[in-house]
Amino acid sequence: MMRTKTLTMAALATATALTLAACGGGETSGDGETAAAGGDGGGATMRLALNQTEEHPSFIALDNFGQRLEEATEGRYSIDVYPNETLGAQAEALQLVSDGSVDMAIVSGTQLENLNEDFLVFNLPKVFDDVEHQMRVVNDEAIVGDLYASLEESNNVTVLGGFTQGARSVYTTDGPIETPADLAGKKLRVQESDLHIAMAEAMGASATPMAFGELYTGLQSGVVDAAENNEVSFWTQKHYEVAPYWSYTNHLVGLDYLIINSDLLAEMSEEDRAAFDAEWTAAYEEHTELWATATEEAIANAKAGGATFTEVDEAAFAEVLEPLAEEFITSESQQALYDAARAAAE
Ligand code: GCU
Repeated sequence: MMRTKTLTMAALATATALTLAACGGGETSGDGETAAAGGDGGGATMRLALNQTEEHPSFIALDNFGQRLEEATEGRYSIDVYPNETLGAQAEALQLVSDGSVDMAIVSGTQLENLNEDFLVFNLPKVFDDVEHQMRVVNDEAIVGDLYASLEESNNVTVLGGFTQGARSVYTTDGPIETPADLAGKKLRVQESDLHIAMAEAMGASATPMAFGELYTGLQSGVVDAAENNEVSFWTQKHYEVAPYWSYTNHLVGLDYLIINSDLLAEMSEEDRAAFDAEWTAAYEEHTELWATATEEAIANAKAGGATFTEVDEAAFAEVLEPLAEEFITSESQQALYDAARAAAE
């Protein structure tokens, strides 16, 4: 499905401008096709921005999603997944989906928190007990329906659902940590989120927000001394090479979202939309299944590459993180989401 892997941002902007000029507007595809408006059976090759490698479960599930969608819509809709931040880091990808130059993207919940603070509820440490609990909540229309539609008017972006990021833990360049005190004086890279800056500080570190794609170099050069993520990214991004000490803080079960340009979604015929929804459901189910195996493999591979995995005083981390929910939940809508999420725990 990958055709123009090396497309640059400038090339993309030019290509989009040229296609728009030639077609007189409308949704563009990677091939310069135009998705017909009005749900009359048009189609598009949709470009999807991803910041993971082709080995990552998100790439695999999305690529399969694209192939099934193409079959189900008899070729009217297909998806080209661009991995490795080829179409930009997540903050840019979100902007490009909003303005329609890119059709879809996977973005972390932290990015959406910056557009609507209600999303931060699902970025809180300890809001989800595990992946199963998280998936129950984020696919429950009664809980998330309004939230997922909340960016349509303001940003022309529809949230379709979530892929788990699994449990996230801290890893360091110079020896494992056991307690929050061990993070004193360490620069911990976090995603671009006020909540996660506060989270790193609560865990005893000093926080450095940074885009994902800059992190390997950041760890290697000493701009940061630590990061936090899941084992799958630790392995696929090769972070274990430069920060090999994994410490099981398990501070957060993270969440990625699939987003799409709202105009493009509205243009789909009812039949194509039904196929799209069915195949997306199959995609997140496949992703959740792949996740468990990918995590085991990542641990084994990283260990073989010299990484160490150690237990921490988890209770000590849980204690310093506990006040964050009260501090960051400031509205009734956030409280309602938080209560609904916790009520779905077993
Ligand atoms: C995970 C997640 C990404 C996110 C990254 C990060 O890998 O799946 O969406 O960008 O963490 O820490 O930035």
